[in-house]
Amino acid sequence: MKSDCPECQDASRRAFLKKVAGGAAAFTLLGAIGSCSDDLPEMKVGDLSEMEKGPLTPKFNGTRILARRLDGEIVVFSLTCRHKACTVKWKAERTRFECPCHEGVYDERGKVISGPPPGPLRRYTYEVRGEELWVLNEFEKG
Ligand code: FES
Repeated sequence: MKSDCPECQDASRRAFLKKVAGGAAAFTLLGAIGSCSDDLPEMKVGDLSEMEKGPLTPKFNGTRILARRLDGEIVVFSLTCRHKACTVKWKAERTRFECPCHEGVYDERGKVISGPPPGPLRRYTYEVRGEELWVLNEFEKG
């Protein structure tokens, strides 16, 4: 399948060069060209009115995310555990995220409470466009 994605066309070029040139010199050249990514730069999560009924949990670029209101603020978490990348579950009754793999526990803001995760859940940046919530393919800093 032919792609219009410039990065993917570079990937085809890289594959061709790799076959033709081979060896360490080609490997160095290929590394300078860059990598291919088909990730979406953004995605509509849903309407704000839907979020009033409860968290929204679509997949974004292959990652389960959770968008909800927290003290009036919108938060959009990646549900990928920071330990070994299992998908954590939101436990509303305990107001925390729990990882089923090694008992990692995060509070409602994504901060580690206990277990092996080395850092907090990542939060995506987002935009509110009219009545719609959009997630962007970048994490908040901090
Ligand atoms: Fe989540 Fe290990 S993968 S605690």
